[in-house]
Amino acid sequence: MKLTKIELHHFRNYIDQTLDFSAGINVFLGENAQGKTNLLEAIYVLALTRSHRTNNEKELINWNSQTAQIRGILQKRLGSVPIELDLGPKGKRAKVNHLEQARLSSYVGQLNVILFAPEDLSIVKGAPQVRRKFMDMEFGQMSNRYLYNSTQYKKILKQRNRYLRDLHHHVQSDRVYLDVLSDQLSAYGAEIIFQRLQLIKKLAKFAQRIHSEISQGKETLAFAYKTAVADDQLTSVETIYQNLLNQFKQIKEKEITRSTTLIGPHRDDLNFVINGKEVQSFGSQGQQRTTALSVKLAEIDLMKEQTNEYPILLLDDVLSELDDFRQTHLLTAIQDKVQTFLTTTSLSGVQQELLTNPKIFRIENGNVSLEK
Ligand SMILES: Nc1ncnc2c1ncn2[C@@H]1O[C@H](COP(=O)(O)OP(=O)(O)OP(=O)(O)O)[C@@H](O)[C@H]1O
Ligand SMILES: [Mg+2]
Repeated sequence: MKLTKIELHHFRNYIDQTLDFSAGINVFLGENAQGKTNLLEAIYVLALTRSHRTNNEKELINWNSQTAQIRGILQKRLGSVPIELDLGPKGKRAKVNHLEQARLSSYVGQLNVILFAPEDLSIVKGAPQVRRKFMDMEFGQMSNRYLYNSTQYKKILKQRNRYLRDLHHHVQSDRVYLDVLSDQLSAYGAEIIFQRLQLIKKLAKFAQRIHSEISQGKETLAFAYKTAVADDQLTSVETIYQNLLNQFKQIKEKEITRSTTLIGPHRDDLNFVINGKEVQSFGSQGQQRTTALSVKLAEIDLMKEQTNEYPILLLDDVLSELDDFRQTHLLTAIQDKVQTFLTTTSLSGVQQELLTNPKIFRIENGNVSLEK
């Protein structure tokens, strides 16, 4: 898919801006703090209805305004689709083909994006929470069911934690209701774990091939999903569900004492392994970079496999972070397939011969002009 046009109204430092994009490579060139990341963020928010930088949606609205709008025109295999996201004090409204979508899950997935920023290196070396967010964001775009399950799961998890706290402080004494919540949490949790396992397996297949190419055959990358559910119980949603439910029975007292839910997908992790060793702990910086790049590029392939369309790629300041070899690999992998938006303060660190017919925009203080 391609994003052919975007319109921004009062989004961050953009007041009224309309831009026509190239179906190939789009470069946003500008000094620091001019609005490059804001523009990529607008595309990301248009796709996912939430930002990668903040959970506070007010920050996305221009300081002198109450509301913001982002509109986009998508070109898909089946035709052109206008999408729109309105942000305001009462929350957000999402439209597809000018029709308001009651459920977020019917909106997210229209535009699929993959974002790669320097902080994405933390996919490999950061806290488990970074990788859980990564799985939720990526898999949620590919599968409405995943998105629905994870929204429900989070809701029930919150209720359950609150209830454990109330039991602990003797505000509540009814343990039957705790069992009801444990049952619901196990049901959604089992769906999420099972779907994660399936999607990780597919992602790993792509990432392994890419990693092997970048490391010139020297390294084999593998993924390992870490969960409280025993390996031999991971065969179906039903077995995972039973296992979680049994464990909840056993750890009930401990959970009440600690006032929190101790097992489930919100505690799981994804580990990357090179030649049998965990990259998180034992990988060199180069190996960590290659792993992050392989995972990002693998996402493109997985997204294509799952949705039948290539996603669009957002590269925030990453080219200058990659050495020539990795740059070449990245840019050749996306060439002629994936519409790309990249930001940089200068093109001097970029191998420009690899950017075929780029459309170059200059960004100054929230104003965009065409450089070439
Ligand atoms: N809600 C808002 N309303 C108006 N301006 C905002 C808002 N949020 C952020 N800004 C402005 O946007 C600027 C940051 O823009 P952005 O993060 O896109 O910079 P950048 O071009 O990516 O810079 P760098 O090269 O340093 O990454 C801030 O300095 C701030 O002035
Ligand atoms: Mg930036």
